[in-house]
Amino acid sequence: MLDWDALEAECRECRKCALCETRTNVVFGDGNRNAEVLLIGEGPGENEDLQGKPFVGRAGKLLDDMLSLIDLNRANVYIANMVKCRPPQNRDPLNVEQEACIGYLRNQTALMKPKIIVCLGRISAMKIIKPDFKITQEHGMWFEKNGVQMMALYHPAALLRDPRRRPETFGDLKTLQTMIRNICRHTYPAPN
Ligand code: URA
Repeated sequence: MLDWDALEAECRECRKCALCETRTNVVFGDGNRNAEVLLIGEGPGENEDLQGKPFVGRAGKLLDDMLSLIDLNRANVYIANMVKCRPPQNRDPLNVEQEACIGYLRNQTALMKPKIIVCLGRISAMKIIKPDFKITQEHGMWFEKNGVQMMALYHPAALLRDPRRRPETFGDLKTLQTMIRNICRHTYPAPN
């Protein structure tokens, strides 16, 4: 296992899959590495690729708004993606790309030791929680794995496409807030 700086340096040079050919920037992660809550998205889009930061486009603005409803922000959570480089045309990351990249997320998770993992969308939930995860039925439900509480929210891009799902997501955020209050020592860990 690498420490944060070595891991980030290795990831920024990564050539483990073909996405390295088309990326502008590696999107390693953003937020507080000492946080107790880890959010996992799918992969960078165009804005993320250009800026090198996760969730900075329209979906990212919505994510920030969702988090602020329960007093979360990038100073008290960490945000990473399943794959660190943008899939062309924003297609779903291929299995080979996910497999090539998952080691970085595993190493990030091992360093952070989060109490709570929140998967953003179906692709992340299928990889992190269980392969047959059904986002329409199982969003907002808790799954425990290796002592970590895990749940999935609808992906913010899905909420932009279908705003009718927003009330359910508000309920899921409240569920997340309750879990944070119950098991997290500090909602506002010291910044790095
Ligand atoms: N969608 C994701 O899943 N991740 C990002 O970083 C941006 C959009």
